[in-house]
Amino acid sequence: MSATESQNVLIDRQFGAQSDAYLKSAVHAAGPDLAYVTQRIAEISPAVALDLGTGGGHVSYAMAPHAGRVLACDLSERMLATVAEAAAERGLKNVETHCADVHQLPFPDGAVDFAATRYSAHHWTDLPGALKEMRRVLRKGSRAILMDIVSPGVPLLDTHLQGIELLRDPSHVRDFSVGEWLAALEGAGFVLRKVATHRVRLEFQSWVERIGTAEVHVAAIRSLQGQASDSVAAHFAIEPDGSFTLDAAIIEAEAA
Ligand SMILES: C[S@@+](CC[C@H](N)C(=O)[O-])C[C@H]1O[C@@H](n2cnc3c(N)ncnc32)[C@H](O)[C@@H]1O
Repeated sequence: MSATESQNVLIDRQFGAQSDAYLKSAVHAAGPDLAYVTQRIAEISPAVALDLGTGGGHVSYAMAPHAGRVLACDLSERMLATVAEAAAERGLKNVETHCADVHQLPFPDGAVDFAATRYSAHHWTDLPGALKEMRRVLRKGSRAILMDIVSPGVPLLDTHLQGIELLRDPSHVRDFSVGEWLAALEGAGFVLRKVATHRVRLEFQSWVERIGTAEVHVAAIRSLQGQASDSVAAHFAIEPDGSFTLDAAIIEAEAA
């Protein structure tokens, strides 16, 4: 089994059981990134829009009123079943679910007019490879909106961030810095059009419950937070109950 295949087994194990929690998650159901992708797709009105790592489906529901078809892709069949049901309940008949790995998409070259991904890329084993695959399926000149938690890029802060993320969810690979994102996008054949950053507050208890973090890992995260230096604690705004605030980015790129 390849590294990507074994990682995909782990992702499915982590997310499959939590589909309802991601559908109901307040953090995932709103935010400036979701507002931005909604605004841009309303302006563009693409025929075919792609949502990579759809999770609870919030990006797909936001895109559906403004696109001909929405291809909601995820590795997890159980996530996709939840999305299909929720889309039907909302009357969104143009949302199609596809069980697919972002590294190997089941769509022809240039078949897609708009692509988005949100809070998923930090699980991917090969960001440059996945972005090349996204570029392959996009028609030349069409837009992609990439949204995720980002590393501040400073090693001191980066190590704390990746440490708590991995303890929370063993399928975490990496929160990339904006610089890593831009290099990977350029290498995949995209031209940068916009970058914006914002902050996302995560309430500790719901953050660990959403993915079913093991108790021993919850204790380790709290211990790491308790022993963090003042500068790490200040950057992540660590609160007495463990809640904290992360950096997130919205990147818009054009398929060159
Ligand atoms: C936090 S959820 C996504 C949240 C969702 N996009 C939203 O905005 O609410 C992460 C999702 O990415 C999916 N995922 C991770 N790696 C993937 C891959 N290589 N291919 C497809 N989906 C992937 C997981 O199965 C999971 O459902």
